[in-house]
Amino acid sequence: MMASAAVPAATGGLKEDIAGLYDESSGVWERICGEHLHHGFYEPAGDATAVRPDVRRAQIRTIDEALAFAAVPDDLEKRPKTIVDVGCGIGGSSRYLARKYGAQCTGITLSPVQAERGNALTAAQGLSDQVSLQVADALEQPFPDGMFDLVWSMESGEHMPDKRKFVSELARVAAPGGTIIIVTCCHRNLNPSETSLKPDEQRLLKRISDAYCLADWFLPSDYVSIAKSLSLEDIRTADWSENVVPFWPAVIKLSLSWKGLTSALTCGWKTINGAMGILLLIQGYRKGLIKFTVITCRKPGPP
Ligand SMILES: C[S@@+](CC[C@H](N)C(=O)[O-])C[C@H]1O[C@@H](n2cnc3c(N)ncnc32)[C@H](O)[C@@H]1O
Repeated sequence: MMASAAVPAATGGLKEDIAGLYDESSGVWERICGEHLHHGFYEPAGDATAVRPDVRRAQIRTIDEALAFAAVPDDLEKRPKTIVDVGCGIGGSSRYLARKYGAQCTGITLSPVQAERGNALTAAQGLSDQVSLQVADALEQPFPDGMFDLVWSMESGEHMPDKRKFVSELARVAAPGGTIIIVTCCHRNLNPSETSLKPDEQRLLKRISDAYCLADWFLPSDYVSIAKSLSLEDIRTADWSENVVPFWPAVIKLSLSWKGLTSALTCGWKTINGAMGILLLIQGYRKGLIKFTVITCRKPGPP
C-alpha cells in the first residue's frame, strides 16, 4: 500500500473492473446521492457521529472548496475557459464547472454507462453545447498538449495504477499557467519509527481497494514529489478528512430510505460490495488511516 511498493502495470483487468463497477453501480448511486459521485464537505462537528443532512449540498461544497483552495479566478478575463474533468463519473462536476465559468468542459470516464447517462443529463440540462463526456483512459488522454485552463480530478486518482503517469498526463494536457486540482484519498503519514503501515491497516486498505477497484494508496507527499519532479509550481495540499467524516453516515441514512432500499434491492453484487465498503471507509477515517486530500498546482508559463 506504499508509494515505494512496486507499481502494478496498468492492466486491462483493472480497467475493465473499474468500468464494470461504475457501469453497474452508477444508477444506484445517482438515485441515492444525485449526480455527484464524491465525498461531501462539512464544517467539522464536535459530535462526529451526528448524522448531517444535505449530502448533495455538501458534495457541491467540496467542489467550491477545491476551487477556492486553488484560487481559481472568478473574473471574466481570467476564469478558465477550457476544462477537462478526468474521471468524470456522470458529469456532475463537468456541468457545475461549465455553468460556473461559462466554460467548455470535456469529461472522461472508463464507464460507457456513465458517459451515456452523463451526456443525457447534460442534454436535459441544456448544456450540450458546453459539456461532453466520453470514454477514455486518464493515463492516455486523447487530447493534445496544453489544451485546458483547468485540469480537474475529483476522486479518480485512487483508481490509477501508475500515479506518476496519471499526474504527468494531467500536467501534459494543462495549458501554460493552467491549474491542476486533484482531490483524492491518501493514507496517513508514517511515524519516524515506521517503515510501513501496520498489518491491520494494510489489510483494511486492501479490503477497501477490493470493494472499489482501487490501485496502490499514496501519501499526500508522494503526489507533491511527483508534481515537483514535473516542475509544476505553487504546489499546495490540505487534509480535509475531518470535513468529510460526516459524509458516509449521512449516505447510509439516505440509503435506508425507501428509495435507497428499493434501489439497493435491484442492483448487482459489485454495487452491494461497494455499499458494504462504506463501513470500511468509515473505519479508515475513524482510525486516522485515510486522509482525504486536496493537491493543487500550476503548470509553469503565462496564463
Ligand atoms: C468515484 S468516481 C468520481 C466521479 C466524479 N469525479 C465525481 O466527482 O462525481 C471515479 C471515476 O473515475 C473514473 N476512472 C477511474 N479510472 C480511470 C481511468 N484510468 N481513466 C478515466 N477515468 C477513470 C471512473 O470511471 C469514475 O468515473
